[in-house]
Amino acid sequence: MGGSKYKFAQVLGVALVAGTIAYFGAGLVAGQPSGPPALDLDEDLVARGAEIYVASCAICHGANLQGVPNWKIPNEDGTFNPPPQDVSGHTWHHGDPTLLDIITNGGIGDNSLMPAFGGELTEEDMRAVLEFFRSYWGPTEQEFQRQATIRETATESP
Ligand code: HEC
Repeated sequence: MGGSKYKFAQVLGVALVAGTIAYFGAGLVAGQPSGPPALDLDEDLVARGAEIYVASCAICHGANLQGVPNWKIPNEDGTFNPPPQDVSGHTWHHGDPTLLDIITNGGIGDNSLMPAFGGELTEEDMRAVLEFFRSYWGPTEQEFQRQATIRETATESP
């Protein structure tokens, strides 16, 4: 009797070890740190946004959305240089309403070097560019920006 009890403990031990390996092993196979899932982007919109970006934005913000080096340092006249729009920038900190406003009306302040595109691009064009930006971001930035859009939309005056 004593012998079979011992055996049971052994089997249980092996099962626990195997279970632990399976549990953590599954996490390793999944290979992803836990976080929000990537957004389901509209690929047609991304492609359209890419064309508009190349034609109207890349000359300042860079072919790969990299902005200019030292974009955080203001010029002597207080103006700023084009920031990156990839994850290293702050575009993803803002919701769609703020970004659409800046693209439509230009940068904030009288002497911003960000031009207004309201006379040139439709809102659909601008939304396509935003979708193109999202394609450069990871799930975390995408989710942060989605939440910012929800917050800004909720607080916008009707
Ligand atoms: C003539 C150069 C120039 C062009 C062309 C340009 N930008 Fe900008 N953009 C800037 C500068 C400079 C800033 C920073 C402005 C500031 O801080 O006052 C900026 C800022 C922005 C911002 C706000 C910062 C951020 O990312 O949160 C957005 C959004 C933006 N640009 C989008 C666009 C889009 C979209 C286009 C093309 C349709 C475009 N820009 C074309 C120079 C440009």
